[in-house]
Order: sequence, then C-alpha cells, then structure tokens
Amino acid sequence: MKVELNGNSLELIIGDITKQTTEAIVNAANGTLMGGGGVDGAIHLAAGDELVEECKRIREDDLDGNYLLTGRAVITKGYRLPADYVIHTVGPVWEGNREVSEEKLKSAYKNSLQLAMDNGIGSISFPSISTGVYRYPVNLASKVAIKAIIDFLEENQFGRVVLTLFSEKDFNTYKEALESILVK
Ligand code: APR
Repeated sequence: MKVELNGNSLELIIGDITKQTTEAIVNAANGTLMGGGGVDGAIHLAAGDELVEECKRIREDDLDGNYLLTGRAVITKGYRLPADYVIHTVGPVWEGNREVSEEKLKSAYKNSLQLAMDNGIGSISFPSISTGVYRYPVNLASKVAIKAIIDFLEENQFGRVVLTLFSEKDFNTYKEALESILVK
C-alpha cells in the first residue's frame, strides 16, 4: 500500500528490514546501542561487527558513556547492509501508561526522520518500533507511528518513507490504521 502526502510517499510493505535498499533503515535499539534480539539483532548480524564498534564510539564520545534516551536517535553507517545508514532509536517499553508511551513512541519516529533529513537522506525504512520485546500493542503503536510519520511529511519535503512489517498480521493492522487516519 502506498500513499502520496505533500510530495512525499508513505509505503507499507511486508519484509525484512535488513534487505531494504532505502538510504537509511531504522533500528529499534535499546539504550546501550550494543545490539540485542529481534530487529536489532538482525541488523547487527547483517551489518557486521563494525556497526557495534561505531555504536561504542557514539556511546563514549557523543553520549559521554550514557545510554541513548528513549525517543532519541543516533546515526551510523550501514556497513554490510544494502542501506547506507542505520538510524538507531529507542522506543518505549509498554508499561500500560498510554499517554507516556505514546509521546515517547512519537518522538522515536519524529527524531529518526529529523535526523535523516539533517543528514541529507531522502528515503528511509522503519520497523514496527516497540511492538516486539517492548510489548507495545500493535493496534495502538500502529496509529501512533502512522500519525507521527504523516505529521512529519505534511510539514517537510522529505521523500520516501517505508514501514517494513514483519508479518501479514502486522501489515494488516498498520494498513487499517493508515486507512482510518486518511479518512479523518
Ligand atoms: N525486519 C523487520 N522487522 C523485524 C525484523 C526484521 N528483520 N525482525 C524482527 N522484526 C519485527 C518484530 O516482529 C516486531 O514486529 O520488529 C518489531 C519490533 O520488535 P523488536 O525487534 O522486539 O523491537 P522492540 O519491541 O522495539 O524491542 C526492542 O528488543 O532486541 C531488543 O535490543 C532490542 O532491547 C531492544 C528491544
């Protein structure tokens, strides 16, 4: 499914984000930036060890040894990935507080898009941030994600945004969310 918004495009596809050929892909990381399971593990595996080395340097030099805060984003090269860049962001862990989680999830999408644009990137693929290990319900997260992306695209000439969903079930949930937001 593909929609045009203010000269930009938003696509929903089913696929593996490590195979995407957009200039950047987004990693649903954790604050350590040292890798993990799920999409984070798949991205680190496909990119190779140089990715974690660059993440270590970012932790030490740019973050003064601290964790990357929830909702923030940093950029690295893509190394062995088809994408040139990886934007690492940290989504919220779902703890049942809808308002707090929503704000943080929105920030993860917006800050990733802003960082991409600041780096001259015009195409990006997102996974479904927070809906795996971090347990954010997909029916809620999909609405927040799509709203955040649409708001950004309405205000900016960005280019192409792809939401790469890992299952048909997730794809259908995001599709319903997109359709319901578009008819409003
Ligand atoms: N391509 C696209 N989507 C993927 C892929 C992949 N290769 N692998 C997993 N996914 C999907 C999952 O099915 C889920 O829908 O990404 C979505 C996000 O799930 P997680 O990867 O678990 O991310 P999240 O819920 O944000 O949890 C982040 O998990 O792996 C750790 O280090 C990571 O601690 C962090 C936490």
